[in-house]
Amino acid sequence: MCGIVGYVGPKIATPLLLEGLKRLEYRGYDSAGVAIMNGAGVETVKEAGKIAKLELLLDATPVTGTTGIAHTRWATHGPPNQVNAHPHMSQDGSVAVVHNGIIENATVLKQMLQGRGYVFRSDTDTEVLAHLIEECFDGNLEDAVLEALLQVEGTYGIAVISSVDTHKIVAARKGSPLLLGLGENEYFIASDVSAILAHTRQVVYLEDGEMAVLDAGGYRVIDMDAVEITKNVAHIDWDLAQIERGGFSHFMLKEIFEQPQTVEQTMRGRLLDDEGTSKLGGLNLSDEELLSFTNIVITACGTSWHSALIGEHMLEELARIPVEVEYASEFRYRNPVVDEKTLCIVISQSGETADTLAAMREAKRRGARTLGIVNSVGSTIARESDGGIYIHAGPEIGVASTKAFTSQVVALLLFTLKLGRLRGMSQERGQEIIAGMRALPQHIQTILDRAQEIEDIAEEYKRASNFLYLGRGYNFPVALEGALKLKEISYIHAEGYPAAEMKHGPIALIDEMMPVVFIATHDAVFEKITSNVHEVKARKGRVIAVTSRDEDALEGLLDYEFRVPETSDLLMPILASVPLQLLAYYIAVKRGANVDQPRNLAKSVTVE
Ligand code: AGP
Ligand code: GLU
Repeated sequence: MCGIVGYVGPKIATPLLLEGLKRLEYRGYDSAGVAIMNGAGVETVKEAGKIAKLELLLDATPVTGTTGIAHTRWATHGPPNQVNAHPHMSQDGSVAVVHNGIIENATVLKQMLQGRGYVFRSDTDTEVLAHLIEECFDGNLEDAVLEALLQVEGTYGIAVISSVDTHKIVAARKGSPLLLGLGENEYFIASDVSAILAHTRQVVYLEDGEMAVLDAGGYRVIDMDAVEITKNVAHIDWDLAQIERGGFSHFMLKEIFEQPQTVEQTMRGRLLDDEGTSKLGGLNLSDEELLSFTNIVITACGTSWHSALIGEHMLEELARIPVEVEYASEFRYRNPVVDEKTLCIVISQSGETADTLAAMREAKRRGARTLGIVNSVGSTIARESDGGIYIHAGPEIGVASTKAFTSQVVALLLFTLKLGRLRGMSQERGQEIIAGMRALPQHIQTILDRAQEIEDIAEEYKRASNFLYLGRGYNFPVALEGALKLKEISYIHAEGYPAAEMKHGPIALIDEMMPVVFIATHDAVFEKITSNVHEVKARKGRVIAVTSRDEDALEGLLDYEFRVPETSDLLMPILASVPLQLLAYYIAVKRGANVDQPRNLAKSVTVE
C-alpha cells in the first residue's frame, strides 16, 4: 500500500534510502524502516511514526552498507507499531522483505510455516513472505522468491535482500506498483518515481507477474517462469522542483493555486474551436466504434467519483446517452449490466486505486471497452485500459485531491464534446462550450486572487463541529466534494446533499451552530435553491454562499458570500469547487491539522 525504495551500487545506502522514503512521505504512512547489508549480515532498523524518528535512530546507531531496502507502511494487518513495521526478517535473519499490498492466504501459510518450526514475531501478513523465502532458499535469492511467490495469493510489490546471496535486490510485483531506476553502476527499486528522481530519470516499470534482479552490475527482468523479458526504458520528464512545494506552505495549497495551469494543460492541443469538438489521441476508438456504444458506466472512488457524477450529467445532457456512475468498490461485487455495447470510463488520479483497478478488470471481463481518465502516466490503470485521456495535471502530492479533480472534470468535458458532436450536438453548442473552457484558467485565477476572503470565512467557522454543503444540478457533486475536502483534512464532520433533499432529513440538524455552504450560482436551478436557503435561515442556520452574481432573491439571507465568475452551468463545478477547496484548506490549517498528510488517509489506496 505504501512506499518502497531500494538501492544497490557503490554508495552508502542509508542516506539514499532515507531520502527516498522522505520523498514518499506524501503518500501517508504509519511507520518506516530500512534493512541494509552491513557486510556481516542484514541489519534492520525500524520505527513507528514519522521517518524523522527513524532517522534519529539511524543517527544514533549508523548502519553502513551499499545494498539496502526501505519501506513506509500503511497498516493493513496488525496495528501500526515498531514490530509490525517493515522490513520483516526471516527466522534465521538471512532474508529481509519489504512489502506493499496484502497476502490473502497469509493465515494458511502461517499455519504451514509454524508447523515447520517458524516463529512469528509480528501481526503482519508480510512476515509470512520472509519465512517462506527462507524456507524456499537454496543458495539463490531469485529462485527462492519465485518459488515462494507461487504459493502466495493476494497483491504485492516486494523488495527482498539476503545475507547469503548478497549484494542483490530481488523485487516482484502483482497488483502494487514498482519500478526500477537505472543509474551509473547503481540501481534503484521504488514504488513511486518521486523516490528516486533525484538520482535518475531512466526507469523501467514492472508489470504484474514480473520480477527484477538488481545488482551493482545491472538488472534483469524475468517472468514467473524465470524467462527473461526485454523491457523498455522510460524517461521521466517531471522534475523535483515540480514535486516540491514551490514556495507554498503546503502541497495542497500549491496544487490549488496551480489550477489555472493544470486546467489549461488538460485542454492543451485538444480543442477544435471551429468544429466545436475535441481531439483525443489516446482513445483508441474510431468514430464508428464510439457510436456503437449503447450506454456508459463510469467507475471511480472518492473525489474521482465526484467528478464522475459531473461527467454523467454532462454526457447525458449533451451526448444523450445513458450513463451510470458506480463506486468502484461496489461495482465489482454486483452483477452490473455491462457488455460489449458498454463503454466503461475509469477515473483515477493515481491510476493505482485497487478498487478502481478491480472494477475496470471486471468491466473488461464482461466485454466492455475501457477508457482511463488518469493523471499518473504509466500507472496500472493507464496501462491496462483500452484507451484513455491523461489529465496532465502533474504530480499531486497533497493527500486531498484538488487539481486532479478540476482536470478530471475538464477531461470528461473534452470527451463529452467529442461524443456529443458525434451524437447530434450542434457545432454552435460545441463552440459555445469551448469558448467557456478557454476562459476557465483566467476565471480560476480571479478566484485565487481573492483567497483572503475565504481565509476570513475560515477564521469565523474554524471551531464548528459540523458543516452541511448543499447544491443542485451540476453543483450537487460540488457539494459532495466540498464536504469530503473539509472532513478529510480538518476532521470536521461534513455532509454534502442535494439542496432539496435537506428537508427529508438533514434539516433536523440545523440550528445556529450549523454552518451551511450553498453553491447558489446563477444556473437553471437557482430559483429552486433560494427556497432551500430560506429554509435554513428560518431555522437559524448560518449560510455561506458561493454565488455568481448579485441576487435580489438572497438579499439579507447570507452570513457570508463568495462570488465566482459567471460561466455556463456545466463549467460551474470547476469554478465553484475552488473556493471550497480553499475553505477546507484554511480551516484545517487554522485548526493545526496536518493538511498534506491527514490522519488515517493515504494518497493512493492500493488495497481493497
Ligand atoms: C481525495 O481527496 C481522496 N483522498 C480520495 O477520495 C481519492 O480521490 C480516492 O482514493 C481515489 O483516488 P484515485 O483518484 O487516485 O483513484
Ligand atoms: N499488508 C502489509 C502490512 O500490513 C503491508 C502494508 C503496506 O502496504 O504498507 O504490513
